[in-house]
Amino acid sequence: MQKIIIANWKMNGTLAEARERAKSIVDAAPEGVEIVICPPFVHLATVLEVVAGSSVKLGAQNCHFAEGGAYTGSVSAKMLAEAGCKYVILGHSERRRSYAESDSIVRDKGRCALAVGLTPIVCVGETLTEREAGEAVSVVERQLAGSLPEGKAIIAYEPIWAIGTGKTATVEDVSAMHAAIKKRHNRTPVVYGGSVKANNAKELIAIPEVDGFLVGGASLVAAEFLQICEAGSAVFSG
Ligand code: PGA
Repeated sequence: MQKIIIANWKMNGTLAEARERAKSIVDAAPEGVEIVICPPFVHLATVLEVVAGSSVKLGAQNCHFAEGGAYTGSVSAKMLAEAGCKYVILGHSERRRSYAESDSIVRDKGRCALAVGLTPIVCVGETLTEREAGEAVSVVERQLAGSLPEGKAIIAYEPIWAIGTGKTATVEDVSAMHAAIKKRHNRTPVVYGGSVKANNAKELIAIPEVDGFLVGGASLVAAEFLQICEAGSAVFSG
């Protein structure tokens, strides 16, 4: 199976930078790997123009939990599908924390996404306190039980203490967690996120239970993101 490498640009950059960065990625995108770019909402149309006709897919960073209606400032899954998205990141820890997104809200968002043909990328992950207390697996299992919708989704395991910190989970930790997740969700791809960089991508993608990456900071530099995509492509077995 092809590995999936997802760029989460978060709330960064100008429209011109988004266009340039997307172009650099499309121009040098390796084969044998599914590459997804998730720009901010207002940059979707421009990035779509750049990725159109290439193998690179478009995704969004969030959607609303209702199909539509009086929700000022929000964007529905249907709008994202119409805007050319194939994927949507849901329940990122930054949203769970800053917007109090509960597991059931994330699941409702996932149902909306699936209903319009988007693949939800459902994020889960433990805090450092939870890991140190030996609760990492049970926390992640609880989050998945509450937030994974029924249907074709991707699980993103992102230990919160590894996001944007430069600290990556060890190969042993990632391997053990992904194996634990796959015990219950054996048909769902599980990608890893949390300080994935060009210099650790190879050893992390070599873990058999790792189906790809969700990349934040390092996805903002096209050359570095492309090296991570290359690492994904290199392990493609056909
Ligand atoms: P990071 O972010 O790669 O900057 O740690 C990952 C994420 O938040 O998805």
